[in-house]
Amino acid sequence: MQNVYLDNAATSFPKAPGISGAMAEYIDKIGSNLNRSSNELAAATALVTLETRELLCRLFHFQDSAHVVFTPGITHSLNYIIKGLLQPGDHCVVSAMEHNAVARPLAQMSSRGVIIDQAPCDSQGNLLLPQFEALLRPETKLVIMTHASNVCGTVLPAAAVGALCRQRGIYYVLDTAQTAGHLDLDFEGLGLSGLCFAGHKGLLGPAGIGGMLLTPSLAQSMEPLIAGGTGSVSDSESMPEFMPDRFEAGTLNIPGIYGLNQSLKYILSETPQVLRQKEMALTAHFIEELRDLPGLRLVGEPDLERRVGVVSLDFLNRDNGEVSYQLSERYGILTRCGLHCAPWAHKTLDTFPKGTVRFSFSHFNTEAEVAAASIAVRSLV
Ligand SMILES: Cc1ncc(COP(=O)(O)O)c(C=O)c1O
Repeated sequence: MQNVYLDNAATSFPKAPGISGAMAEYIDKIGSNLNRSSNELAAATALVTLETRELLCRLFHFQDSAHVVFTPGITHSLNYIIKGLLQPGDHCVVSAMEHNAVARPLAQMSSRGVIIDQAPCDSQGNLLLPQFEALLRPETKLVIMTHASNVCGTVLPAAAVGALCRQRGIYYVLDTAQTAGHLDLDFEGLGLSGLCFAGHKGLLGPAGIGGMLLTPSLAQSMEPLIAGGTGSVSDSESMPEFMPDRFEAGTLNIPGIYGLNQSLKYILSETPQVLRQKEMALTAHFIEELRDLPGLRLVGEPDLERRVGVVSLDFLNRDNGEVSYQLSERYGILTRCGLHCAPWAHKTLDTFPKGTVRFSFSHFNTEAEVAAASIAVRSLV
């Protein structure tokens, strides 16, 4: 039985062509650290790293490659921002669709005196914008929002939130776990102060490499959480003030950067718009097959324009965990069940604590795979 991988929201598979070759090239033939030594191999590493920052600037329409910081992924980037920026008494607003990568560090900060408000969303995961706006106060320092729900695929109104934050001088950070590589993201146009990205999801790169893009103002307001060697201003006991060294202590995941470099070239040559078209055609087909099936609830925004290729199904008369297991065992359809690290979202969507079965597509999937998945769902429902 051939497996059909429909768990791309957890991590994409397959990856972009050529990334294992790029990573092997670094490990087998280069091997040098970054910013430490001044030999030929170190220069090669430095060039690829700089090029990768520049590719990210192109992808996210961002101006300054020095303000692209590498981290292991979105969870680390969000922790850097939340814990480096917020002080007791500060106010932070988030949506009711956030992942635990937001909820858990904020819960830690809440016990240290940071005040957190959750802006409500409707039962399809859409942010209620007037209610969001009403929560903003003079002491609101930070808004964090997921761009699209990792549970149901609903896209949140990133630009409208950005305009409201900009009017009030509030830092605004977007979690692009489910949209980077899928949508055309314009840092400036969305009014962002920070953008957190993961290499291993829609960017089709390896795990363990991601990062954050920061405006100079946000970067200077954040205390570096991790201090250590950067290969620069080594005579000082303080972290460098300049970027990206301010937030890049220790050795980076250089094989990951080589892999990401390759996957970004692939995405930029294909373009997120074309990849989205393919992925959404598959998603539309899947939804169409299952929309009105009795015993099944399709969770999330019905309008395809306002969702990504993440589809959650609630099997009303069955245990969703059992269904996900049967999909894998009997049909080779690989999904993810449970709460998807996003209990707030499931509460909003009224699927807590049962969870859902999540099918998440990539442009690498085929119509035949979608047909196989919908036949399997019909037989299990
Ligand atoms: C919406 C959302 N935010 C954050 C994360 C965490 O990303 P990472 O695994 O890169 O830390 C995920 C991953 O599942 C996610 O879906």
